[in-house]
This record gives sequence, C-alpha cells and structure tokens, in this order.
Amino acid sequence: MQDNYGRTIEYLRLSVTDRCNLRCRYCMPASGVETIDHADILSYEEMLRVVAVAIRCGVKKIRVTGGEPLVRKGIVEFIRDMSDLSKKIEITLTTNGILLADMAADLRKAGLSRVNVSLDTLREDRFLEITRRAGLQKVIDGLHAAEAVGLTPLKINMVPIRGVNDDEIADFARLTLDQPWEVRFIEFMPVSDGLDYTPDNMFPAADIIKALENVGKLVSELRQGPAGPARMFHFPDSPGHIGVIPAVSEHFCGECNRMRITADGRIRPCLFSTEEIDLRGALRRNASDAELEAILRNAACAKPERHHIGEKDFRQGKRRMHGIGG
Ligand code: GTP
Ligand code: 5AD
Ligand code: SF4
Repeated sequence: MQDNYGRTIEYLRLSVTDRCNLRCRYCMPASGVETIDHADILSYEEMLRVVAVAIRCGVKKIRVTGGEPLVRKGIVEFIRDMSDLSKKIEITLTTNGILLADMAADLRKAGLSRVNVSLDTLREDRFLEITRRAGLQKVIDGLHAAEAVGLTPLKINMVPIRGVNDDEIADFARLTLDQPWEVRFIEFMPVSDGLDYTPDNMFPAADIIKALENVGKLVSELRQGPAGPARMFHFPDSPGHIGVIPAVSEHFCGECNRMRITADGRIRPCLFSTEEIDLRGALRRNASDAELEAILRNAACAKPERHHIGEKDFRQGKRRMHGIGG
C-alpha cells in the first residue's frame, strides 16, 4: 500500500481497547477519561476482517496496542486467530506489563512474536506518582516472564520527563549491561491537551545521549530497517541495546511505514492526524472486502507528509494517547 509521498505502508497499529489499568500522567488527565461505549468498539470478528484485508494491501507487521491491550477479554484467542490468518505476518504487542507475567506463556503460544513494555521508572514511589497506580514489581516480573518464554527481543519504552524521572536514564541504560533487552528512550510528545506535563517537560534526545555517555562509551549501531524510529547504541560487551526515539526533535516521518486503527474503528493515517477515516460504518453495513480494501488504500493516501509539533500550525487532536495506542 503506497501513500502520496512514495512511502510504503506495511505496519498496522491496531488499538483493541482505549481502557487501561494505569493512569499515566503523560497520557491521561487527572480528571479521568471518558471511555468508548462497548457497542462502539470493534468486535474481534470485525478486527479480523480488517486485518485480513490489510494483509491483502501488503501489511506485514501488526502491533496490538491499547489503552492496555491485555485488559481486553479474549485477547489471547484474538492473537491466535490473527496468527492463523497468515504465518507471514509478524504480530507484536505494546503493553504496560502489569498483566504480562500471567499471560506471557499463553501469548507466546498463541503466535505473538515479541512485546514492547512501557516502563518509566524503577522506583515504586515514582511508579505510583507517574501512573497513579501501584504495580512496579508486577511489571518487572512481566519483563522476566516475557524473556523466559521467548517474546524477544524484548523492548522497554521509557519516556523521560524533565524534573520527574530524567535522573533515571542511567539506571535504565544499565539494565542493558546484564540483560539482552533494548531500552528505548522516547521524547515526550504533546499528543493531547489537559495533561500534567507540557512540552517544557520534554527531555530532548541530545540530553538523553549526554546522560547515556555518563554511563559508558556509547557504540553507535545501524538502524533496524529504514523505518525504525530509534537511533541505536550499545555499551561495549553488553548483551542489551539502547534506542533513542527523537519523536519530536528529529522526526522520522519521511520513512514512516505505519497506519493506525482505533478501537472504535477509525483509521488514523498519522499519530497526529486531526482527521480520521471511518471503517466501522463500512464493516457494519457489510461492505465487501474490495470496498474495505479501497477505504484502507485511500486512507494511506490521506497520510500527511510529516508532523508539525513545535510549529505555529500544530494542532492537537481530540484523541488522547490511550485512545490511539502510541
Ligand atoms: P518496534 O516494532 O519494536 O520497532 O515498535 P515501535 O517502536 O513501532 O512501537 P512502540 O509501540 O514500542 O512505539 C514506540 C514509540 O515510538 C511510540 O510510543 C511513540 O512514542 C513512537 N512512535 C511510534 N510511531 C510513531 C509515529 O508514527 N510518529 C512519531 N512521532 N512517533 C512514533
Ligand atoms: N509521548 C511519548 N510517548 C508516549 N507514550 C504514551 N504517551 C506518550 C507521549 N505523550 C508511549 C508509552 C508507550 C508507547 C506506546 O507510547 O510509553 O510505550
Ligand atoms: Fe499509561 Fe499506556 Fe495506560 Fe496511557 S495507555 S495510562 S501510557 S499504560
């Protein structure tokens, strides 16, 4: 599937729920969130149809996201059904890790290739402060369980927030000295309004790299494929890897290969799209596969050239991160 800027779209991020068992401050406002009604959420049958059509359009990688995808009932069976559709696609999942220790083995058996785990602090008191919930130990147990069952290479996503957890960059980086994990530091993005953090809290990639250089000599690596968002490094002789995702300061939009579908069946051609394309309506009036394929291909053509964060014409969308899935 091609867009209007010569980019090939082959990576689908599918949000299966906007609900979450955490309340991260960079994702949700203190006032709480309105959730989508159950009736408006795509059923697994509907999602499977979309995935089958997306595969026909050339999608090779599906990332299951949320909210928190592991809170949706039946997620393991859904992953098994997707994996039965085609053995050629890679199925991955991004999770906050709270339920991972219990589910890792079943997810692996169902055909999931690997997981990315969001974790922003290694300190219990801060975990409570950032996510507004307890549970650090559960996430750490989840990381080890995922590693043990082979949901690998395991990636950890850490969003350093200035004045909140930026002093933990070194501790996260040191995890790679003992574990074969890829620890990725992501610049905070002002996806929606009403959050506890503002763009002033963004900790830029250049400062992340300075903090990493205090831990040891950083060896640069080749990027993982042209569309990987992370600049990659490792410390000499360490089993793990370090990624820095300069989502704001150095966007990688020119190489973007992804499209998103929200849990209520809207296509977001870009993370920062202000316009969404309805897919649920077509699914529910029993549109043919050819019609669904045309909707997906047209949506790819609506993908903007790049994001405009930090520029005068940047507009935040209505959806928050938990409704988009990152
Ligand atoms: P891999 O398949 O492991 O490479 O996963 P991924 O990096 O595509 O997925 P993940 O859910 O772990 O996302 C990592 C982070 O990269 C997201 O949380 C975003 O912060 C950032 N990111 C992902 N996609 C985009 C994008 O299209 N635009 C921007 N600006 N940032 C993105
Ligand atoms: N900026 C950057 N990353 C974010 N994530 C959630 N909200 C933001 C934000 N505002 C990250 C989570 C998760 C990934 C899918 O998106 O940490 O790892
Ligand atoms: Fe935190 Fe992700 Fe849940 Fe948002 S969706 S509250 S970032 S765990």
